[in-house]
Amino acid sequence: MNLFSAEGFIDFSKLEKISKKPKLFAKDDGNFWQDPYISEHLLYAHLDNETDQGSRKYNSVIQAVNWLTSYLKLPENSNLLDLGCGPGLYSENFFGQGYNVTGIDINPHSIEYAKNQAREFGYPIKYKCQDYLEIDYENEFDVVTLIYGDLCVLSHQDRDLLLKKVKKALKPGGYLVCDVFTKFYFKNQEKEQEWYISEQDGFWHEEEHLLLQSHFKYKKEKVRLDKYTIVLKDGSWRTHHIWKHYFNIKRAIDMMEQHGFLVKDYWSNLRGKPYEKKSSWIGMIAQKTQ
Ligand SMILES: C[S@@+](CC[C@H](N)C(=O)[O-])C[C@H]1O[C@@H](n2cnc3c(N)ncnc32)[C@H](O)[C@@H]1O
Repeated sequence: MNLFSAEGFIDFSKLEKISKKPKLFAKDDGNFWQDPYISEHLLYAHLDNETDQGSRKYNSVIQAVNWLTSYLKLPENSNLLDLGCGPGLYSENFFGQGYNVTGIDINPHSIEYAKNQAREFGYPIKYKCQDYLEIDYENEFDVVTLIYGDLCVLSHQDRDLLLKKVKKALKPGGYLVCDVFTKFYFKNQEKEQEWYISEQDGFWHEEEHLLLQSHFKYKKEKVRLDKYTIVLKDGSWRTHHIWKHYFNIKRAIDMMEQHGFLVKDYWSNLRGKPYEKKSSWIGMIAQKTQ
């Protein structure tokens, strides 16, 4: 794909294509989580304690793990599966609280970092670089965690598949810990389109590029899309779609019930902050019922 015509002019019909609203869950030009360049920069984002971009700030991670451990009160050496574990920030802290931890993530840079940390500190955490849509555990875990909105960025079909696999992976009565966006998560996102020029070695590409960012609403489906188009100097471009499904309490509870879970408790975050009407997040613990 190239913005320039054969004669070397900007082809406006192609620019129009870039700015168009895609169909719900339309495929983009690559896997954001696995792109070799972006995935390395995602690791840096996870480890950047100044922002909440890749992962929440470390203090919040520790508070969440402490809160969840004291809420669940499970015996030492209970099995915990951390899905989308990133560089292992939660996995390491759950291990520190006495859990026997397995962490899975699709980003090879994050898993390599997590494994190195575990080796260095002597943590017997099992890390695997794998697509969590392909796990096949049965009755193995007391707890499965999906932390920082993972359920929201999947298509409806993939979310159903993942919840089925999580349920199968859990022992009877096991817990799913997860958090999802509400519509208030988007309250500061006023502009529909933004752009900027990124210097070399930016988040999206090693070359200097133009970044076009569009936000689309799919009101009926309760989904938002962040569409990022990276345009290089030679006019070539690539687009990434980040889908964001949002919930309210009723829909979150219904989703869990449809998949054989009972929501035991919910908060404004996974640190036990009481739920408020305009919370940006719902943090919840759901128990496998059948
Ligand atoms: C928002 S980050 C959260 C990371 C971690 N839970 C935390 O809060 O520090 C989402 C994580 O899910 C991983 N991920 C996304 N899709 C995945 C998939 N299909 N299978 C496994 N991991 C995936 C990403 O690589 C990323 O590390």
